[in-house]
Amino acid sequence: MNSCIVGLQWGDEGKGKIVDILAGHSDIIVRYSGGANAGHTVVIDDNKFALHLLPSGSVRADTICVIANGVVVDPDILIEEIDTLAQKNISLNNRLFISENAHVVLDYHKTEDRLREESLGKNKLGTTIRGIGPCYADKVGRNYAIRMADLRDLEKLEAKLQKIVDYKNKIFAALYNAEPMNAGQIFEKCKFFSARLLGFTTNTTELLHKAIADGKSVLFEGAQGSLLDLDHGTFPYVTSSNSSSLGMSAGSGVPAGMVNKFFGVVKAYTTRVGAGPFPTEQTGEIGRSIRDKGNEYGTTTGRPRRCGWFDAVAVSYAATIGAIDSIALMHLDTLTGFKELKICGAYKIGQEQTTFFPTDLAKLSRAEAVYETVPGWDEDITGINEFHDLPANAQNYVCLIEDKTGKPVTIIGVGPKRSQTIFR
Ligand code: GDP
Ligand code: IMO
Ligand code: MG
Repeated sequence: MNSCIVGLQWGDEGKGKIVDILAGHSDIIVRYSGGANAGHTVVIDDNKFALHLLPSGSVRADTICVIANGVVVDPDILIEEIDTLAQKNISLNNRLFISENAHVVLDYHKTEDRLREESLGKNKLGTTIRGIGPCYADKVGRNYAIRMADLRDLEKLEAKLQKIVDYKNKIFAALYNAEPMNAGQIFEKCKFFSARLLGFTTNTTELLHKAIADGKSVLFEGAQGSLLDLDHGTFPYVTSSNSSSLGMSAGSGVPAGMVNKFFGVVKAYTTRVGAGPFPTEQTGEIGRSIRDKGNEYGTTTGRPRRCGWFDAVAVSYAATIGAIDSIALMHLDTLTGFKELKICGAYKIGQEQTTFFPTDLAKLSRAEAVYETVPGWDEDITGINEFHDLPANAQNYVCLIEDKTGKPVTIIGVGPKRSQTIFR
């Protein structure tokens, strides 16, 4: 049994927690897209892990972890993560495998991300400044890209880096009047990356297909959310990879037909970090209250997340393109204490009403949410493990989400811990 877990909103849905839980039933966990822009939180007892590049299954000592070809690897951050886990006596030796085809994020990518965002002023995208867009741009452009396999031949790499840094410096000087970067310093860092990471680097496509043929079960861990997908999200306010489940095949070399189950993770409300349209956003007291109760601050950047009501139009769309079988609904506990709750079931755009999510920016920017209002609950639900023990209004809220999205909610989060989970 192979499965895939993706976020169905704009990221931070609680994927880390669900991957950690389902990793207990999987042999191999695979990250297939994005890079260190992701921040996946796993809470085990009193330990909180915030993982950016390592799959969330890495905290389980017996799990094989794969960083597949679709990921852009920032070696600085990956090495820091490996070392942090080692300090907690969790070793990645002999169980972490990085694709030789994965592209490498280097300092000039992060510099370019920052310079471009700064130059855009109020029109910036609000990226994580982790160099994600510039690295994927180099991948698509081909001539100036570095892959993990390039760390094997340091002589060739040194010459290639000189050429790339010369090229980047011309652009940085012309566009941003920026100080030149030093190719020698970047090469010295690459020598260190090579020494630390080559031992983990391999052909992960071969590894995954052999494992599947041997009957091993693989869990694919999506990063970001489906609405941040480069092709199917709210372009240009998206990330630079296919972050929906559609990116899984290209990002890992494993076709969707070999995956038995697709899980979609959503919050019981909606959040978004960075710029872009958000039809159910609540900028006043309601949004502040959700942010405070849900501790909605970015795992990677610490930025306050924009908060709003559950958007069934957006989630249904994401579930449709993602071939989602069932939904994990997180943070139901965060909604405790609201007198009433709203769910958006349609958009009004000009004179027209639609239930199909428009990805065209001009249309989406004009979309007004059409809400259904339901009563809330006051009882503390953070210790509940059975669906029928939830307050009736909480049960009804979950059922309304099922009704509006057309997907069954089979897992419910009532707190950050593993134990704070309801299975239906
Ligand atoms: P991810 O990027 O999808 O893995 O999500 P993040 O880790 O960025 O953000 C989710 C946050 O919500 C983390 O701090 C989790 O510990 C926390 N969390 C996950 N599920 C629940 C839940 O059901 N209730 C509450 N209160 N917190 C949760
Ligand atoms: P996880 O995996 C939430 C957002 C950024 C910005 C846009 C582009 O933790 O859910 P980028 O740095 O990718 O070029 O930024 O995408 N973004 C995320 N938002 N969760 C994430 O990851 C995100 N990764 C990128 O805030 O709006
Ligand atoms: Mg996150």
